[in-house]
Amino acid sequence: MSTAQRLQERVPAELLNDAFNVFREASRKLEQQYALLERRVEELNEELAEKNRVMERTRRLAAMGEMAAKIAHEIRNPLGSMAIFATLLERELANDAEKRKFASYITNGINTLDNLLSNMLLFASAPAARLKSVDIREVIEDSILLVSGYERAGGTVTSEFEGHSIIMADGSLLRQLFLNLLINAMDSLDGGAGTVGVSAKVIEEGRGPMLVVQVRDTGKGIPAEELDRIFDPFFSTKERGTGLGLAIVSAVVNAHRGSIDVDSKKGEGTVFTIRIPAE
Ligand SMILES: Nc1ncnc2c1ncn2[C@@H]1O[C@H](COP(=O)(O)OP(=O)(O)OP(=O)(O)O)[C@@H](O)[C@H]1O
Ligand SMILES: [Mg+2]
Repeated sequence: MSTAQRLQERVPAELLNDAFNVFREASRKLEQQYALLERRVEELNEELAEKNRVMERTRRLAAMGEMAAKIAHEIRNPLGSMAIFATLLERELANDAEKRKFASYITNGINTLDNLLSNMLLFASAPAARLKSVDIREVIEDSILLVSGYERAGGTVTSEFEGHSIIMADGSLLRQLFLNLLINAMDSLDGGAGTVGVSAKVIEEGRGPMLVVQVRDTGKGIPAEELDRIFDPFFSTKERGTGLGLAIVSAVVNAHRGSIDVDSKKGEGTVFTIRIPAE
């Protein structure tokens, strides 16, 4: 007699049937679970492949960033010599207004390129502030001088200072900050008449002296819906803008543990207010 026959004799057929049903149900559930697991493994594999693609892209972008920084350095040196000779040329042509104007185009073009390269280098390196004693008045006046012949300049630039002007800050970072704010302010005039004003003062606050600088323009203003995005890298509404200017401004302010506010009315103008601890 076989084992099955002997079992059948001892265990009632119904019970066996029930047991088989339970067994079949359990194995059906197991199969379902298995299919689910298989699908999850497939999903995870896809996710992994996507992550690998992103990582590869990030690696390539980082390499490109490094290369861009190297190229920027390489361009900078000859640009420096060009700037010196263009200035000499302008001096040489002091008595010929027409020719001098053409020479000044070279200087302005060089300044624009230099600003672009500085922004790129700063963006690639996330700047840290090296604090030294600087005369903020000089930094601002230098920046104004640099943009005064700026190719898109239309209006006039005024500046005013209050109180002492020697502070602890990173002069070259601040210069880059003012250049970007001033160029934006000039751009906002769209070649038309208007004014750009810079005011700076050191005030005493609870936590010590604070440098407060305002850069204001009577330009076209910033639409409310764009205000949230102007500090984002690569956000630009200009045909030839890289959108790095205000990203650098914000990085420089952060490097000094300062703050920046913007107040703008479409069609009326914009005020950028920067506060930087001065000690
Ligand atoms: N003073 C301003 N008046 C009006 N719009 C401004 C002003 N400053 C900034 N913006 C707006 O913010 C955007 C971003 O400015 P940002 O300086 O970062 O880039 P950009 O000027 O477009 O290009 P880049 O500075 O790299 O040449 C500008 O395109 C412009 O739309
Ligand atoms: Mg700009």
